[in-house]
Amino acid sequence: MSRASSIVQTVRDAYDGIEGFLPLHAPVFEGNESAYVQATIESTFVSSVGAYVDQFEAMLRDITGAKHVIATTNGTTALHMALLLAGVNRDDLVITQSLSFVATANSIAHAGALPAFVDIDADSFGLSPTALQAFLEGECDMTSNGCVHRASGRRVAACVPMHSFGLPARIEEIVGVCDKHGIPVIEDAAEALGSRVGSRHCGTFGQLGTLSFNGNKVVTTGGGGAIMTNDPEIAKRAKHLTTTAKVPHRWRFEHDAIGFNFRLPNLNAALGCAQLERLDDFLAYKRALAERYNDAFTKAGIPFVTERPGTTSNYWLCAILLNDRTERDECLEVTNEAGVMTRPVWEPLHTLPMFSSAPRDTLVETLQVAGRLINIPSGVVRRPVK
Ligand SMILES: Cc1ncc(COP(=O)(O)O)c(C=O)c1O
Repeated sequence: MSRASSIVQTVRDAYDGIEGFLPLHAPVFEGNESAYVQATIESTFVSSVGAYVDQFEAMLRDITGAKHVIATTNGTTALHMALLLAGVNRDDLVITQSLSFVATANSIAHAGALPAFVDIDADSFGLSPTALQAFLEGECDMTSNGCVHRASGRRVAACVPMHSFGLPARIEEIVGVCDKHGIPVIEDAAEALGSRVGSRHCGTFGQLGTLSFNGNKVVTTGGGGAIMTNDPEIAKRAKHLTTTAKVPHRWRFEHDAIGFNFRLPNLNAALGCAQLERLDDFLAYKRALAERYNDAFTKAGIPFVTERPGTTSNYWLCAILLNDRTERDECLEVTNEAGVMTRPVWEPLHTLPMFSSAPRDTLVETLQVAGRLINIPSGVVRRPVK
């Protein structure tokens, strides 16, 4: 059997020999979803005000330990808002990783800034604190205007590491390096609900962290996101700016800033509350699946990506590493043809036309991983998906 065909078999075996199409990650609605959505319709509170939004935020505070959570329309708007709250201004530079979903860099551009791409660690696929330190010490100067990137003259206004596929990045080290340079950290934890370093939840180490509840995530609100912070002033501003910066009053329409309509609708929050009730169950299923994958792929001599010691991954998307681009492409072809959905990792962001002139380091690990990694079915599947 070719390696590509053996991957098809290994994936099906890990799902107890299930036949039919296996998606990468499909949502599962088997709890109170219908009841809560129906209750929202009956209440007529379907838009941005309603009890489920408050409940959803409270549940997220409980799960993550973040002191404040502000639900948003999606993960991209959560990141956009977090960047503005951290003080990112037009023409600033924001350091991030090239190995990420495009929304990470898009939100930096939405805030008027330019991304600078720094390499990742080979074991977490998160921003490398060593590469970050080298970039800040080699390419930037501390000035009266803060840390400034020498070649572009831009202020380094924030750093956005990402917890790739739910694998926790070396976030404590990243925050340590940024603190020394006076740079706020915003964690893109879109993929990391349920992931922890020690007992602390991803997205709660930096000044701000963000989540996504898109349909492909561990739990979904249809579309949705959230901002996390422990700073009460930032939280207050986040709530104000995401709800059109309206000055509270029973009937007057007065706004004291250019605000945004980024508030999560109650209808979506209702779905989210029901989904969060199932989170522990989903995480347990995904962990057991990852353990079966790890045993089987290790026996087959194919590296399966696991959490680093001392961290807990939610195993949002499981990943294997193939020998090279040629083998990767063959495996993508054979697995998808056989109804086992796989996909390559994102094209590195610095190769996309809109970010091709952004500053960057050598990105050696990024390019290595980008050519070899594929994601394999990782969701909860109790019966074949039509
Ligand atoms: C790393 C990362 N950042 C940001 C986002 C944006 O989230 P959304 O799709 O909810 O806007 C996503 C996923 O969708 C993501 O994977």
